[in-house]
This record gives sequence, structure tokens and C-alpha cells, in this order.
Amino acid sequence: MEIFYMTSKFNYPTEIKGTRKLYSLFRGVKDPLEVISGNHKIAGDSYYIKASFTNKNFIFSQDKEFIEYILKQNHKNYFKSEIQSVTLGKYLGNGLLTNNGKDWLKQRRLIQPGFSKAKIANLVSIMEEEIDAAFQSFDKEPEIDLYDLFHTLAFNIVAKTLFSSDIDESKVKELGKIITEVQEVFAKEVRLPFYTQIFKIFGVIGKTIEKSKRSKAIIQSVLDKRRDSGEEKNDLLDMLIHTRYEDTQLPMSDEQLVDEMLILFIAGHETTANALSFIFFEISQNPEAEKKLKLEIEEEGENIFTTESLMKKSYTSNIIKEAMRLHSPAWAIDRQALEDDSFKDYSWKKGTLIILYIAGLHRNPKYWNDPNSFIPERFDDENAKNFAYYPFGAGPRLCIGEHFAMMEMVLIVRKFYKNYSFVSYQKELEKKALVTLRTTSLNGKIIKNLA
Ligand code: HEM
Repeated sequence: MEIFYMTSKFNYPTEIKGTRKLYSLFRGVKDPLEVISGNHKIAGDSYYIKASFTNKNFIFSQDKEFIEYILKQNHKNYFKSEIQSVTLGKYLGNGLLTNNGKDWLKQRRLIQPGFSKAKIANLVSIMEEEIDAAFQSFDKEPEIDLYDLFHTLAFNIVAKTLFSSDIDESKVKELGKIITEVQEVFAKEVRLPFYTQIFKIFGVIGKTIEKSKRSKAIIQSVLDKRRDSGEEKNDLLDMLIHTRYEDTQLPMSDEQLVDEMLILFIAGHETTANALSFIFFEISQNPEAEKKLKLEIEEEGENIFTTESLMKKSYTSNIIKEAMRLHSPAWAIDRQALEDDSFKDYSWKKGTLIILYIAGLHRNPKYWNDPNSFIPERFDDENAKNFAYYPFGAGPRLCIGEHFAMMEMVLIVRKFYKNYSFVSYQKELEKKALVTLRTTSLNGKIIKNLA
């Protein structure tokens, strides 16, 4: 009777069972993209899988309307899953990315104005300085791993836009090293939850928490320095220091402020560095697109680096969007249902984990013609806003750094292709789907334009 009740109350999407389920659970750890795409081919745009040994129910979806239902229409019924809030939270603390509910909303309201287009426009000159410095060595060392370069560059850009010149190079390097090490540990824990147990036994978790404390101490020291100097720099740190909660008119506590800054570091550099690697790879494989890009740069003339030109729709931004369609750094977005819920024919119980498979949505033939080809012109379409396209998420938890990242990437692409080209030695990029979709290297040669 009990069994009958359990199976009849909810109408889950097609279930993945038997050997395919075993294959999914084991192989899915190593190559989730291959497994999830394969399951969608078998079961349709939404499927259900029960991880029996952990008693967890999962629904995966690459259906546009389902994704919009979870992220927009009924977002109130969903929290970030434990994967993010607990696993990441124990290292990063309580910042926008890991927080939920009322606490999250309070913080989001406070921080959002700092990321408006108008505020971001102030950051162009800081970004330009970092980009020029990173490109300096090209003439002497044309053979390069662009993935490494973009990693360091995106990190330095977040560091300088947050802290201006209050942070010296050695601190930026130390912070970068610690954050990368912490990220490597939590990436393993998120993908392979049993690592948490192994890590506990070997003391890895304790050591990693110590490292993240060290990174917070560095951030706190920069904060103290700014307060002592009394200077105003109009950067993100000033914005975070001066902003006040609507109800109490009080500022953020130092602890909260430091947590938010650490989160901005983590959320703001890894995704951008990966997106840039995919963008440059696609340009290197598509000479026609490179030609059109260079033509746009020439035609925009002196205006190419003005904030107005950087932020408007352009061929450069089309290239970036198309590369992020094919290789979405946020390849999946996860949520957990707070209460039983239903959408169209499906229903599911409270606690169900929902994995919105953005990588699948972006190549779903139901929404895209020739889905595997790189065609930046698609984004010229007047209807582009309604595409099945969510590289920055959607709804109230939409990426707060979307304008920041787009402006930064347009600036980097234009600064580079104004003077150089890139010949990739790799004909394919190795892809690793960890917390974000990453590549491991992008080796090639930089060629200076003929004058
Ligand atoms: C190409 C670059 C980027 C991509 C693809 C990206 C993608 C995303 C996605 C998909 C989400 C939503 C996650 C979810 O709903 O579970 C998100 C959230 C977030 N992103 Fe980004 N992001 C990028 C750059 C940045 C930058 C540059 C910053 C900050 C400087 C940033 C800060 C954040 C924060 C704080 C959140 C959490 C927002 C909230 O929950 O209120 N991101 N990002």
C-alpha cells in the first residue's frame, strides 16, 4: 500500500532506471555532460533519476519553459541546493552566491546598485590598465597558454575593481593562489560528495577552512587600510562600505562585507576566464568571424573603448554570446524544492533536487537551428531576448555581474583583436564540467597585425 501511495502521488518525468541508471551514477561523475546529454536523448527534455543509496530524487531538464518555471515563475519555492549552500558555504561563508531566503534578498538589494550599468561604466579605466599590462609581454613571448593568461587577468580585474590600488601585487598573488586552492577542494566535494568524508579523515577540510580564513584576513586588512586612509575611490569596496540597509540605515558588518567580497572573487573570475578561453578558441576556428570582428573594430574607430560602444549590441557581443551558448561556463544550475510542486504534466515532492541543464538547453534542436555550429549572427535577431539562452541564469538570482562580465569580455576581445590574432595549436578544447565548465589550456601563438 505504502509503495502504491509513494509511486502514485507524484508524476515524475520519465525515469532513468536499471543499467543506464548505474552507468549515469558512476560515469556521470567523470563526464557529466556526456551522461546527461545521453539521458536526455533517451528520455526527452526532462527526466527523473533516484539516487537510491542517498535517497535523493533528481529531475534534470533542458526544457525552456520548465527552466523558466523554476527560476522565474515559482522561484520562491526553491533554494540553492545543499551542494552550493552547505559545501561552498563552509569555506566561503554567507555571501550572495551561497545565501538563501530573506538574508539573501536583504544582501541582494544592498549590493545590486553597485553593479548597475552606470556604476560598471566607472570601472573601464581600471580594467583597461590591467588588460594593457597583461598584453605587454606578447611581442617578446608570442607562444602562450591563453587560459593561464585569462585566469590571472580576470582575477586581477576583480581585485582591482574591488580594491583599486589598496591591494599590492604580492597580496593579489597570494589571494589568487589561496582562492585557487580552496576552489580545487570544493570542486571535488561538489562533484564527488564522498570526497567530503575522505577529506575529513585526512584533515583536508580543516586545512582548507584555514586557507579561506587567511584569504578573509587579507581582505579585512585591505578594508582596514581603506577606512584608516579616509580616501574615497569610487570602486566596489567604497560602494560596499557606504551602502546602508533600507530598514535600519546601518552598514554591513565587517564579517558580512568580507564574505561578500570573497564571493565576488570566486564568482567573478573563474567563469569569466573560462568564457574568454572558449571565445578565443571559437574565433581562432572561424576566420570569417575574425574578419568581421576586425572590420567592426576598424569601423568603430576611436569609439571602440567607450562605455557606450562596449555596452551596446555589436558583432563583438554576438561572438561572445555565441561562444557562451556553445560552451556555457555555468553548465547547470541547481535548486532544491522547499514544498511539493508541479508543472504541466509533472509533479514532484519537497526536497527534490532540480538540475537545470543549461548546456543542453543551449544546444537543444527544439530551439536552435544547426545547434552545434558557431553562428554569431543568430544574435542579430530582434527576438534574441527570448531565446532559449541563460548563460547568466534568470529570475531574481540572475548573475549580479552580468554587465560587468560582458563589458570586461568585449573590452578584452577588442583590445586583443585591434592589434593581434591568435593561432590555436589545439583543434579541440578539453572540457571539464566541475562547478563551472572549464578548459585546461589554450595553447597557441600570438601574431601582431601588419601595420
Ligand atoms: C562570463 C562570466 C560569468 C558567468 C557565465 C556567470 C554566471 C552566473 C550564473 C549562471 C549565476 C546564477 C547561478 C544560480 O542561479 O544558481 C551567477 C550568479 C552570480 N554571479 Fe555570475 N557569472 C559570471 C561573471 C560574474 C562576475 C564578473 C561577477 C562579479 C564580479 C559575478 C558574480 C555573481 C554573484 C555574486 C552571483 C550570485 C547572485 C545571487 O544569487 O544573488 N559573476 N553567475
